[in-house]
Amino acid sequence: MKVFVTRRLPGGALDRLAAEHDVEVWNEPLPPPRDELLARMQDLEGLLALLTDRVDAELIEAAPRLRAISNYAVGVDNVDLEAASACGIPVGNTPGVLTDTTADLALALMLGIGRRLVDGDAYVRRGEWRTWDPELLLGHDLHEATVGILGFGRIGQAVARRLEGFDCTVLHNSRSGGVPFEELLERSDFVSVHTPLTDETRGLIGQEALRRMKPTAYLVNTARGPVVETEALAAALHAGEIAGAALDVTDPEPLPAGHPLLDAPNLLVLPHLGSATHATRERMADMAVDNLLAGLRGEAMPHQVNTVTPRAP
Ligand code: DGY
Repeated sequence: MKVFVTRRLPGGALDRLAAEHDVEVWNEPLPPPRDELLARMQDLEGLLALLTDRVDAELIEAAPRLRAISNYAVGVDNVDLEAASACGIPVGNTPGVLTDTTADLALALMLGIGRRLVDGDAYVRRGEWRTWDPELLLGHDLHEATVGILGFGRIGQAVARRLEGFDCTVLHNSRSGGVPFEELLERSDFVSVHTPLTDETRGLIGQEALRRMKPTAYLVNTARGPVVETEALAAALHAGEIAGAALDVTDPEPLPAGHPLLDAPNLLVLPHLGSATHATRERMADMAVDNLLAGLRGEAMPHQVNTVTPRAP
């Protein structure tokens, strides 16, 4: 069957796909432009997409032969699941394999912003390190801090387990329980976002939420950029309403050079690296390929996010 993969993937998973199907891989450093992707849909039976590809109703409806969509991510906010389900197309994702890797990065960001790692590195490189100074680049401890985890799924829980080792008091808030959202914001020294992006969580951390946080608290986001309102965050950092923010995800994403958020003080930004280790990205590729192979065989995917009656061949 004809399959399009929207970027090269690490490891050997795509060889397994190519052994069974007619596979074209988009071999460019940037995602396929919209018109390129749309133009291919007419003949495709399988699509292996990335979180940078908007797999919306228009794209899905342009693919009368499409039998399976596999998303190389645990988050599926880039895929219109309703449109896929309405067309009988199963959608797969990559849960579990990236949980610990992403949780590690959340801790790295807490320490990075709280202990001013980027400021310190820049200070040394500027040649300003002349002596040990009792007041130089003071930050805030993670150990024994109160950490509020928003969204308590796999990754949120993995973060909580790590924080036990730092003797933290961990609060959480999710759809299924925990402490009230406002209380979490008011009590936490670090607020770490781990919710999926949905209509309910878009803009969850806006001006009001930021004002509830302590002026000594840090915001960390390793989930999805639009959960935090960018303008409100920039304003809160400029006004000193919170102590800082460490973001692995942003809105917009990518954040262009010269974006106003980058002028805000006490901000650490990474280019969406949550799952970026060799081992994890290879496991994600294996999982995405297993999902696609199953979907193309008309079988349930090992990790399928929607329920469908598959399209007739
Ligand atoms: C995901 O999988 O949703 C991450 O954001 C990228 O690994």
